Amino acid sequence: MTVSPFIEHLPKAELHLHIEGTFEPELMLRIARRNNVPLPFASADEAKAAYNFSNLDEFLSIYYQCMSVLITQDDFCDLTCAYLDRVAAQTVRHAEIFFDPQAHTSRGMDFATVCNGIRAGLDYGRERHGITSRLIMCFLRHLEEDDAMATLEQAMPFRESIYAVGLDSSETGNPPGKFTRVFAQARDAGFAAVAHAGEEGPAEYVREAVDILRVQRIDHGCRVLDDPSLTSELAGRAIPFTVCPLSNHKLRVVDTLEQHPLRDMLDAGLTVTLNSDDPAFFGGYINENYQSMQDRLGIDDATLASIARNSFNAAFLDDTRRAELLAQLDSYLNTR
Ligand code: ADE
Ligand code: ZN
Repeated sequence: MTVSPFIEHLPKAELHLHIEGTFEPELMLRIARRNNVPLPFASADEAKAAYNFSNLDEFLSIYYQCMSVLITQDDFCDLTCAYLDRVAAQTVRHAEIFFDPQAHTSRGMDFATVCNGIRAGLDYGRERHGITSRLIMCFLRHLEEDDAMATLEQAMPFRESIYAVGLDSSETGNPPGKFTRVFAQARDAGFAAVAHAGEEGPAEYVREAVDILRVQRIDHGCRVLDDPSLTSELAGRAIPFTVCPLSNHKLRVVDTLEQHPLRDMLDAGLTVTLNSDDPAFFGGYINENYQSMQDRLGIDDATLASIARNSFNAAFLDDTRRAELLAQLDSYLNTR
């Protein structure tokens, strides 16, 4: 996909990005060899050929397999550095990054190894590229709430490194309400909160995420449109939605990108941002997500600029950095 110069240079924030979903096959094969861990793919081409999914669960099964080659702190640091090197060239100024601690601790890894490795990568990104970041720890919703609670306990010594909690993995049959207590405890401990909702699951899950988990943003959320009164309520409250079109297409939430509900979400007055989810698996990083919506839905440059503005307004930034990034965006738009 050719990305236009306007999109390429547009300052933006990435707000929906799973660090394990940035694991490019070349790096995965290198780390697997280094750690002597078997992978079901012998080459990068073989891996890419296997990235054909008919739903979220099919993707998740490959995704958890791929990340199991990550063993050392350096592995997590290398993964994070590679992502930040790549998106520095996509004019990403700030990134809010999910990680799935339970996918690693469940195979015997220390929470510290994972968290410190990613943290070191984020520090590199700030020093090398000036990209600021926040780390968001997701609970795996297919596991029990007690498991999430134990993970929250493990995270407490890393309170300074982790800004927010999130909720991801297999959505259907795992409503937000299953995690009421752990989100309440996380909020009491000062964490911000977000949740995947309304990706494959119903609009009711979006309602639960907002009303019961009291999240500040909804990840995906496209299915909110099935409930017009909830849609207008969340539009009025300016709850941000982190939308990921290439993901929605690859996981067959929509059959074609032309059927993506982004324009309907904008028309409904929702606060929308564009993001990449698991770019190594879905065929594009943030700029390709912006471009796909211009190419397939005819979203114009001015609207993409307002989506980039939303990304800075919806980010967990302090006032100084937010003002700096909004000024960068204004200056970019004024000098064109
Ligand atoms: N984990 C990584 N990507 C995800 C997605 N799109 N939905 C739910 N959980 C995920
Ligand atoms: Zn996601």
